[in-house]
Amino acid sequence: MQIRGFIFDLDGVITDTAEFHYLAWQRLADEEGLPFNRADNEALRGVSRRESLNRMLKGKTIDEATAQAYMERKNIYYRDYLQRMTPADLLPGVDTFLEEARAAGIRLGIGSASKNAGDALEKLNIRHYFDAVGDGYSVVNTKPAPDLFLWTAGRLDVPPYEAVVFEDAEAGIDAALAGGFWSVGVGASNIHHAHLVVPGLAALTVSDLLDRLTALADRRTRAG
Ligand code: BG6
Ligand code: MG
Repeated sequence: MQIRGFIFDLDGVITDTAEFHYLAWQRLADEEGLPFNRADNEALRGVSRRESLNRMLKGKTIDEATAQAYMERKNIYYRDYLQRMTPADLLPGVDTFLEEARAAGIRLGIGSASKNAGDALEKLNIRHYFDAVGDGYSVVNTKPAPDLFLWTAGRLDVPPYEAVVFEDAEAGIDAALAGGFWSVGVGASNIHHAHLVVPGLAALTVSDLLDRLTALADRRTRAG
């Protein structure tokens, strides 16, 4: 087995923007008197802005103009947090892991549902690591559809079976599996479908990961 590409989700894997998304939705919900809390927010991880709003509304119907206004307002709140982001907001171990991967000749990509992903990479000062950036503008069908990861893998020129997706959301892991990628669940306790789950990238070295995936592939080959 050969691994030639890594594709990272951004929010919750590279940096904790998941918290900023939550705070922005919570502020909107509080202003509009919508029942919403941190536990509800778990269902919003990894899905698009539109799908997040749908889930936040829990079946309540609003007209399209109101929906657009809510999403714009939430995005203003979110971008306010984003402006304050610095390289210190990288999650532990991320820069070391990216350095190791590059040194090993692995091509690196981002597969984030966020339309703000490019700005976050600039703020974190890590844009230069990535050979391809798939974001909320790249494809129509969002996670758990595999489209975004396939789009990014195409730009990396690496087939899915030679690439690993790193994700903190089950929707993203399901997208990776649907696309035929290897998958690593990062940081979240509620991931059940990934090939491997780690508490964070600080807990993993590139060579350890490649060894573990090779062992997994060998077991599968033996099992037929
Ligand atoms: C994903 C986040 O990466 O991007 C979601 O996990 C977020 O929480 C989605 O809703 C869309 O982000 P944005 O920045 O386009 O609203
Ligand atoms: Mg995420």
